[in-house]
Amino acid sequence: MTNNEDLFKKIIGHCKEYGFVFQSSEIYDGLSAAYDYGPNGVELKNNIKEYWWKSMVNMHENIVGIDSSIFMHPTTWKASGHVDAFNDPLIDNKDSKKRYRADVLIENYIQKIENKIQKDIEKASKKFGDQFNKNEFITTNKRVIERNQKIEEIKKVLTNSLSENNLSDIKSLIEELEIKCPISGTCNWTDVRQFNLMFKTEIGSTSESSSEIYLRPETAQGIFVNFLNVQKSSRMKIPFGIAQIGKAFRNEIIARQFIFRMREFEQMEMQFFVRPGEEMKWYEYWKKARLSWHKNLNMGNKNYKFHDHENLAHYANAACDIEFKFPFGFKELEGIHSRTDFDLKAHMQYSGKKMQYFDPEINEHYVPYVVETSIGLDRMFLAILTSSYVEEMVSDDEKRIVLKIPPQLAPIKLAILPLTKKDGLPEKAREILHSLQTDFKCQYEEKDSIGKRYRRQDAIGTPYCITIDHETLDNNSVTLRNRDSMKQERIKISELKSTVLNKLDISSIL
Ligand code: GAP
Repeated sequence: MTNNEDLFKKIIGHCKEYGFVFQSSEIYDGLSAAYDYGPNGVELKNNIKEYWWKSMVNMHENIVGIDSSIFMHPTTWKASGHVDAFNDPLIDNKDSKKRYRADVLIENYIQKIENKIQKDIEKASKKFGDQFNKNEFITTNKRVIERNQKIEEIKKVLTNSLSENNLSDIKSLIEELEIKCPISGTCNWTDVRQFNLMFKTEIGSTSESSSEIYLRPETAQGIFVNFLNVQKSSRMKIPFGIAQIGKAFRNEIIARQFIFRMREFEQMEMQFFVRPGEEMKWYEYWKKARLSWHKNLNMGNKNYKFHDHENLAHYANAACDIEFKFPFGFKELEGIHSRTDFDLKAHMQYSGKKMQYFDPEINEHYVPYVVETSIGLDRMFLAILTSSYVEEMVSDDEKRIVLKIPPQLAPIKLAILPLTKKDGLPEKAREILHSLQTDFKCQYEEKDSIGKRYRRQDAIGTPYCITIDHETLDNNSVTLRNRDSMKQERIKISELKSTVLNKLDISSIL
């Protein structure tokens, strides 16, 4: 097991132990790729939503929110292209009977070559020490050049086959590369088939009246079909946006990596409607705006990178992902897509209703173009947890686990801790709790030694602990302990709120 796999396992265990994330229906041995958020998890999730909503809706006078239903008219998904094209190529191993995404098998093969290149670089760097020039090594070392060429060749065949929907070429590539099933170790593969990712269910009370509908695979279509309702009722002028946070469902073939790829998950999406021809300007604007939203959290600027899509979906004229460095490598966290007028035009065609906007500035009717920002709430949650989990030695023989969650998003903002359970300290502590709990999510704790209580608060990422001791009764001061530095300062109760407010308030990062 690599260090990173080990770390990821520890984080998953930590999430369960401290009430962040549980496996869904765990008492029945769980349901694959479905998870429940515990008391600390739901607080963190709500704070992420608040940060996103405030930044997108409150801070933009031309963006409004909606909450559309999960069930939509089935024709919605015909128009959007999901019925015909929301597929993943799957392949089964005949010996292990295990099912895989064919493209992921190939991507994993590429990842292995990339790992080998990384090892070559590390070896050379050790050998040459300060003299080592990474760029020169990559461009001149024969083995690394060959490996990089191989990666490029594989990527080219894969992207061509996927864009042409050529499933037999994907199978041939898997055979040619002699990719083996990780379970059976054999290359005994079925043909590659397309698998639609939408969940179907029936609506209606009797079998005669019921009809087949889908659970929405993205929240965006709820925004598109409401474009005119919102524009007219809110008297919005282009350019304007509609934002939404809600559940989405995808029957992922392989659901792995904890809450990274789930079958039921939550998206935070915003569709920005613009004048045709101005979409690239807004695409660049939203790329920049979304990256700063992430960076304002101080989770390490090096942990983000853009990945521009080379092969664009048929409806897009530009698209990129913001990737984050998870313990299993850089992976997609958010997508920014310039979706042209594809969706509105398709809904216009299928519904027979006009989805046009009259632009008074240029005196013209047109179907707006759309720039979309789409982030997975659960992935954002995972990004925060994985980047904030730290194991630290606090003395020669004592270790602490601390979640250095951005303070503004921490599930519990303040822990209120009377030093002992007697001498009137709990009463004083509760008085302080009542004066702060309308502004901050607080937790009152009096059980166990103060040291143990500090460790428990560190483990859930509480930015500040307030300790009430005998001196408090004399002069109305408390100690304020900082989670990250572990430093304590004595401050007046009357100054508590103003001291912590700026560090805990989401508005400080907007
Ligand atoms: N409306 C555009 C759209 O849905 P997407 O790239 O398919 O685009 C957007 O999804 C975001 O939703 C992704 O960047 C990711 O954060 C999240 N997401 C997608 N599938 C997911 C899954 N199975 N589990 C968790 N999050 C997922």
